[in-house]
Amino acid sequence: MSTVMITGASSGIGKALSLHYDQLGWQVLACGRNKDRLADLALSGTSIQTLAFDMTDKHQVQATSSDLASLDLLIFNAGDCQYINNVIDFDADSFESVIQTNLISVAYGLKAWLKHVKKGGRVVLVSSSAELLALPRAEAYGASKAALSYLGESLSIDLAKHDIHVSIVRPGFVSTPLTAKNDFPMPMQITSEQAAIKIAKGIATGKSHIDFPFSFTCMMKILACLPFALWRKLAIRM
Ligand SMILES: NC(=O)c1ccc[n+]([C@@H]2O[C@H](COP(=O)([O-])OP(=O)(O)OC[C@H]3O[C@@H](n4cnc5c(N)ncnc54)[C@H](OP(=O)(O)O)[C@@H]3O)[C@@H](O)[C@H]2O)c1
Repeated sequence: MSTVMITGASSGIGKALSLHYDQLGWQVLACGRNKDRLADLALSGTSIQTLAFDMTDKHQVQATSSDLASLDLLIFNAGDCQYINNVIDFDADSFESVIQTNLISVAYGLKAWLKHVKKGGRVVLVSSSAELLALPRAEAYGASKAALSYLGESLSIDLAKHDIHVSIVRPGFVSTPLTAKNDFPMPMQITSEQAAIKIAKGIATGKSHIDFPFSFTCMMKILACLPFALWRKLAIRM
C-alpha cells in the first residue's frame, strides 16, 4: 500500500486531498493542528491516520519523525494568508507569521521527513498562482509563495540524484476557509475536491508544476509577461 503524508489536512485542499488518496486506497497520514477536525477526517476515511502539531514549532515537527513510516508522497500543503491592509503602518508581525507558516515550517518538515521519502517518491509543495505576479496587499503571502516555489525548484535539482521528484502546485482561487474571508471577487473559483483531483492527476503524471484552473493561471502568466511598469499601472487601479 502506498503512503502519503499531507500537512494542512484538517480543512480545505488538504482535507480533500486526504479523502481523495484514501479513496484511491492509499495509507494517508493527515496532519494539522485542530484535533476535532482531524478526528472527523479520520472517521470519514478507511485508512486515514492523523497527527496534530504546529508546523511552526520545529521541536513539534521533529518529534513526529521518530516513528514515521516510509513515504511515497510528502505533500506540504499547510498555509496561511494574511493581507497587508495598511502598507504605511506595515504589519511586520503578520509578515513574519505568514513567512513562518508558509516557508520556514517547510524547512522544519524537510529536515524531519525527507529521509523517510522512498527512492522514486515525490515531494509536493503547495504554492500559489499569486507567486507569478506581484499583487496588491500580497507583500507577505506573495513573497512567501514566490520563495516556496524557488525552494521547490532548487530542491527538484538537488533531489534528482537521490531519485526523489518534486512538484510545485500553483492554484488559482479554491473555495476553502482560507478564501472565505476574502473581500474581493475571485474569478474562476473551483471547489477543494476539484483542486484535489487536479493535484493528484498532476502528481500521477509526474508534472513539475501543477497549475490550475488552466484559464486563470494562463491569464496570470500572460500578465506576468507585461513590462512591470505597465502591470504596475493596471494593478494600482485594482
Ligand atoms: N484556497 C485557495 O484559493 C488557495 C490558492 C492558492 C494556494 N492555496 C494554498 O493551499 C494551501 C491550503 O490552503 P486552503 O485554502 O485549503 O486553506 P485552509 O482551508 O485554511 O487550510 C489550511 C490548513 O493549514 C493548516 N495550518 C495552518 N497553519 C498551520 C500550522 N502552523 N501548523 C499546522 N497546520 C497549519 C490548517 O490546520 P488547522 O486549521 O488544523 O490549524 C489547515 O489544515 C495553503 O498553502 C494555501 O496557501 C490556496
